[in-house]
Amino acid sequence: PLPLLLDGDPGLDDAVAWLLALASPEDAEVLALTTVHGNVGLDRTTRNAGVILALAGEAGAGVRVYPGADRPLLVPAVTAAAVHGDSGLPAAGLPGPTRPPEAEHAALLIIRTVRARPGEVTLVPTGPLTNVALALRLAPDIAPLIREIVWMGGSTTQGNRTPAAEFNALADPHAAQIVFEAGVPLKMVGLNATMGCIATPDRVAALRALGNRAGAVCAELLTFYAGVYQRRYGMNGGALHDPLAVAAALRPELLDWQAMNVQIETQEGRNLGRTVCDLYGVTEGPANAQVAVGVRDGAFFDWLLERIGRLE
Ligand code: BDR
Ligand code: CA
Repeated sequence: PLPLLLDGDPGLDDAVAWLLALASPEDAEVLALTTVHGNVGLDRTTRNAGVILALAGEAGAGVRVYPGADRPLLVPAVTAAAVHGDSGLPAAGLPGPTRPPEAEHAALLIIRTVRARPGEVTLVPTGPLTNVALALRLAPDIAPLIREIVWMGGSTTQGNRTPAAEFNALADPHAAQIVFEAGVPLKMVGLNATMGCIATPDRVAALRALGNRAGAVCAELLTFYAGVYQRRYGMNGGALHDPLAVAAALRPELLDWQAMNVQIETQEGRNLGRTVCDLYGVTEGPANAQVAVGVRDGAFFDWLLERIGRLE
């Protein structure tokens, strides 16, 4: 199994993503959950991480939560409570965290873990990249020791938070630029791929029909999310953004990849947070990322469904 550090801002699709990883012990050894500001504030994303571990039951035993950055490096904080609810986990009757979060900062935990297992650890950030950027700035020596970073964020096409920018990129563009410049093997799973993976009513019904608590909670979260997608985009279900990043880390053959140069727009203005993707190789910029350009959506969802079905 691949040693994973899951970094994110749960967030309902982060929650499904983390349950997917925790339910996959033959593929993933989840080393820790690290939390960041993003969809909701850090206090909430940290509490939600504990809730997700409690939901995972046995599969989450022994995994610890490390809170990280409560704000972006330079830009003012943005949140997405309108998409994820004020709590970030809009479902009833969720279990509480079974233990408090750790005192160590997420960035320090990332540094310590990567140094302890050089060349082995994959980071899967599914939120703003603040913690990962802080780790790389505090300890540049870890860059060549990270096996890979698989990030849900950005887009080769349009944004979702602004016409130009995807939420995780906009929420800390400077952090994203630091990560894309670090020379670490990097996969970008952006909106151009994730918007093709929709939790349609049939899929939500299939999760509910699993008959376990995790399936019921995923179904409830994705039902809330579907309402948002219906109102905002006229779509028949929410996009499984963050779970697709876990799939990209564990089963990269479910996606199609293209190497290219990606730069993040850090200038204030209407393009702030845009991931400028050199799809056609028209600049001199060397490829600094493998970018998801296609996805086998049916196989991906079947896999997710089977995995969530294993939980309590
Ligand atoms: C990303 O933004 C967040 O709201 C989601 O959790 C996902 O990580 C999609 O743009
Ligand atoms: Ca997220």
